[in-house]
Amino acid sequence: MTITGIAGEAEAGHISVRGLTKRYGDLTVFSKIDLTVRAREIVALVGPSGCGKTTLLRCIDGLLPADGEISIDGKRVTEPPEGVAVVFQHFGLFPWKTVYDNVAYGLRMAGVDAAEIARRVPNFIGLVGLTGFEKAYPYQMSGGMQQRCGLARALAIEPSVLLMDEPFAAVDAQTREILQFELLRIWERRPTTMVFVTHSIEEAVLMGDRVVVLQGRPSHIDQDIDIDLPRPRSRETLSDPRFAELRERVWANLMNEARRAEFQLGA
Ligand SMILES: Nc1ncnc2c1ncn2[C@@H]1O[C@H](COP(=O)(O)OP(=O)(O)OP(=O)(O)O)[C@@H](O)[C@H]1O
Ligand SMILES: [Mg+2]
Repeated sequence: MTITGIAGEAEAGHISVRGLTKRYGDLTVFSKIDLTVRAREIVALVGPSGCGKTTLLRCIDGLLPADGEISIDGKRVTEPPEGVAVVFQHFGLFPWKTVYDNVAYGLRMAGVDAAEIARRVPNFIGLVGLTGFEKAYPYQMSGGMQQRCGLARALAIEPSVLLMDEPFAAVDAQTREILQFELLRIWERRPTTMVFVTHSIEEAVLMGDRVVVLQGRPSHIDQDIDIDLPRPRSRETLSDPRFAELRERVWANLMNEARRAEFQLGA
């Protein structure tokens, strides 16, 4: 794994997915997906449960084989690529490791020397607001704190691509809001390409430069909506009339599909 400096990664993180089809036996999850995510762009991925959002992230992370082609910065993905970090819904922390050791994990795996780890880890722990909890174990922390720790662990390798699978779904609504705005603040300091899976339409519109809607059986990219809200985004973004307009647009699209599916079931 290459660890890169903050300044050196200006254009890294370009994701290209071409004609991607994923099958599990007889089940075709999605078919012929084309998706480009530019460097530093945030794409929010939404769609009904089971449409293949997690599967697509795992393909991009090189963990699942599929037909078609995925490349990151022009390099074909055949195994977990360098510079890609993942944040999962259920924290994905090592329960037997402290906050410090969880955050240091990726750096140790990358062979970063101890002095550099000692310099870098406290920074990232501070960035997510966990200073003072370095020695705590996951079971000693709230869900929100665990998710902060998962975020710090992903950020510590200074990834060019961050894949987030419903990262805030398991925390309470208030913590979720706090974490959303913190993530936006962190992104402003060091913009990273992000694919952000969420079931929350509000969250998708708040975070994304685009909202991509995956749906159908097998699923495909049904909508790719530009979110032309200015950045930096903050709490004020939520009261922008354009925010409400875009949220309604994404919502209407998802609801139409849900109704169609219901009618088919009832037929
Ligand atoms: N290892 C597996 N073997 C067989 N089928 C699988 C496997 N993993 C996922 N699936 C199926 O693939 C489909 C897509 O699953 P996936 O987890 O990607 O959906 P999702 O969009 O992330 O759903 P959710 O919103 O509920 O997280 C589902 O029908 C699921 O049952
Ligand atoms: Mg999922």
